[in-house]
Amino acid sequence: MAKPLLAGLALGAIIGGGMVYALNDRRSPVERPPGAGPVPAPVPLDAGFSPPSAAAAPKDAWGDAVRMGENIMRETRIHAPENVGNSLACANCHLDGGRTPGAAPLWAAFPNFPAYRAKNKEINSFQKRAQDCFLYSMNGMPPALGSPVLLALESYAFYMAKGLPIGESPKGRGFPKLADPAETPSDARGTLVYAEHCASCHGLDGAGQVTDGKQLYPPLWGAKSYNWGAGMATIDKAAAFIHANMPLGMGGTLTPQQAWDVATYIDGKPRPQDPRFKTSPEITRAANHNNKFSRYGTIVDGKRLGDPASTPPAGFTTGG
Ligand code: HEC
Ligand code: HEC
Repeated sequence: MAKPLLAGLALGAIIGGGMVYALNDRRSPVERPPGAGPVPAPVPLDAGFSPPSAAAAPKDAWGDAVRMGENIMRETRIHAPENVGNSLACANCHLDGGRTPGAAPLWAAFPNFPAYRAKNKEINSFQKRAQDCFLYSMNGMPPALGSPVLLALESYAFYMAKGLPIGESPKGRGFPKLADPAETPSDARGTLVYAEHCASCHGLDGAGQVTDGKQLYPPLWGAKSYNWGAGMATIDKAAAFIHANMPLGMGGTLTPQQAWDVATYIDGKPRPQDPRFKTSPEITRAANHNNKFSRYGTIVDGKRLGDPASTPPAGFTTGG
């Protein structure tokens, strides 16, 4: 998807006639089907907590690490270039640099580590948990434990979490729980939701949009997106994120069914290989994806998802 759509991202207000225009420069016009009525107003999640701004951290070495942590979240490829293998930034999913409740904010995560994680069968420190998002969500090479990158991320999360009780999940952690779908999610409906509510920013081909060398809208699938091991590659997590946060700035306006349908559609698309891949997609599915929330290893559009012949490799080689 190229520039003309961006030109349509105008300032403006809500306009009648079934069209809603952008309230800021990141929102695009969203078409409503005839008779669908006005778009409901988004309801931002109030977590009852607002983290301090990194700019206000002390003017010393530790405060500098806090600010570096925020920079890494927002511009990951600039500040941790050796560790990123796709075109994403942490803040594409952890919105507003990891501050937004309902978009897995870092301040809500911090007081809950160390913790056991079934995914890697280890006790995870906060740094270890962040490593996994480098490996899967960023399709990259995780920085070493104790490296300046992970210490900066940890300092930033610790700084924002000041005053929160240790060992409790505060309101706003992760993504809000989404109601089960009323009907079995369908690709047919998901395709329509995608075309109507998502493609204007993320592109019909899912590749997002690059302007002046900057990834303005992030890729949802393809070689430059998150890999098959990522949390976002599970339908339930993606549906919950999408329902709460997408279309950007209009979280809560899709129905739960629409969120399940579009998340299912996106999970049927190709993306970089799962770094845990062993021998074949079938064996890898049995080991790591054996549940109804992953389409990995199943056949969609005549191709087996995760087949090395049609799947970009895992890791840094796909770099963007
Ligand atoms: C493609 C989306 C995506 C990107 C990009 C991403 N993450 Fe995540 N991250 C997730 C998801 C999904 C979860 C799991 C949320 C849940 O289960 O509630 C998560 C969880 C986390 C957690 C634990 C949160 C908690 O409450 O336990 C941390 C810490 C984290 N990510 C750090 C990072 C860092 C640092 C980066 C960049 C290097 C990053 N993430 C990039 C999707 C992403
Ligand atoms: C107005 C433009 C816009 C629309 C429309 C939109 N998004 Fe997004 N989306 C974004 C932006 C921008 C980000 C990254 C947010 C950031 O960095 O602050 C994003 C992030 C995401 C992410 C996490 C990052 C990634 O690349 O995987 C997912 C998943 C996502 N959007 C799905 C959707 C879905 C599904 C829809 C349709 C229901 C949708 N979006 C509609 C702009 C949009």
